[in-house]
Amino acid sequence: PASTTEPHPGELAVGGVPLAELADRFGTPVYVLDEAEVRDRCRTYLHAFPDAEVLYAAKAFLCRAMVHWIEEEGLGLDVCSAGELELAVTTGFPPERMVRHGNAKSPRDLETALRLGVGRIVIDSPSEIARLAAAVGHGGHQKVMVRVVPGVSAGAHEKIRTGTDDQKFGLSIADGHAQHAIARILDQPQLELTGLHCHLGSQITTVKPYLAAVRRVVGLMARLHGQHGLVLPELDLGGGHGIAYRPGEPALDLTELSRRVRAELHEACAAAGLPVPRLTIEPGRAIAGPAGIALYHVLAVKRTGARTFVAVDGGMSDNPRPALYGVRYAPRPIGRRTTTERTPVTVVGRHCEAGDTLATDVELPADVRPGDLLAVPVAGAYHLSMASTYNLVGRPPVAAVRDGHARLLVRRESLDDIRSRDVGL
Ligand code: LLP
Repeated sequence: PASTTEPHPGELAVGGVPLAELADRFGTPVYVLDEAEVRDRCRTYLHAFPDAEVLYAAKAFLCRAMVHWIEEEGLGLDVCSAGELELAVTTGFPPERMVRHGNAKSPRDLETALRLGVGRIVIDSPSEIARLAAAVGHGGHQKVMVRVVPGVSAGAHEKIRTGTDDQKFGLSIADGHAQHAIARILDQPQLELTGLHCHLGSQITTVKPYLAAVRRVVGLMARLHGQHGLVLPELDLGGGHGIAYRPGEPALDLTELSRRVRAELHEACAAAGLPVPRLTIEPGRAIAGPAGIALYHVLAVKRTGARTFVAVDGGMSDNPRPALYGVRYAPRPIGRRTTTERTPVTVVGRHCEAGDTLATDVELPADVRPGDLLAVPVAGAYHLSMASTYNLVGRPPVAAVRDGHARLLVRRESLDDIRSRDVGL
């Protein structure tokens, strides 16, 4: 991450606190979050998109402190479960600044969203329309958007591509499902359709797919205008902004994204004779990801014929991303340096399967040994939020650093926490 400093060789610090000190104090594995970096990234978005609504996608990482930071920085929240919604509301986040997503919302989910007063609910399927209208009730009122599928392929991995027709999210523009659903929504007086939403996928590093999405969605807005005289005030382009996980990797250029999306939007709307809708964006990864670092201790070093395995005290339970999406990380050794010689290693976890890999073919000091500390940068998004208790390993804590001080935000999950759920015999 941009804010790490190296006061002495090998003594990496974040937020003014040496990583070795954090490992000592909180134990490993631990996620460290740089508060200033999170806040800076929020400000970068507000600066790059001055007239847009910026919603932080809570699924990337959420805890009460994060809710506070997002609130204070003036962003809204994209939530996709009753859990995210309740955590934010009970921490004092204004519900009207939230958008509720989800492709399979239960009647209870909808009731919770309505009871807590969430700003907009994004309709993702035909099944949801009548259910939501009934939950709102006659005489009630709820703002909604519709998630449409623009037919644009983007995203770093098949499992995180959501802009094409053959996947579970949204309603297709190409085969008419979106138009059909919208006509039904317009028949429900208690639902106010404020705009269209699309989310192309995640870890997208070029602007082009967003421009294609703008054209397709504005095309649909033009048809809706023709058919129903509808003028929608809002266009939500979702998130997906890609970041660099390793030095030298490309990241999406936010200034360029903003400039070109706005230009495309103005042009497409002018051609269609429509007023320009207000833009909403939903970055998650690009706000939280680079602000987080995961720390591990090396437990075992094993040299086989083909390679050297360095096994750490965490793994796929705290970071399933290499196993799921083949993501490559760049772990760094912290502290002790006795040699400048490097050796290629594979960093693996402690779990009982061969695919439990954190980093393949990375260079570490040739004398790497048990007890060494490793830092994995860019661990702030989709790490804790996707962590599991595989092999009954408790999930790691989260510590925040700021101005040379560290504090615990989320404690480590203990064996008692895990055991306490086991209530049968
Ligand atoms: N909006 C919607 C409707 C989404 O579904 C998502 C992510 C976002 C915004 C935020 O996308 P972001 O800016 O963070 O890329 N677990 C995967 C990522 C899944 C993303 C799911 N939806 C990973 O670890 O890469």
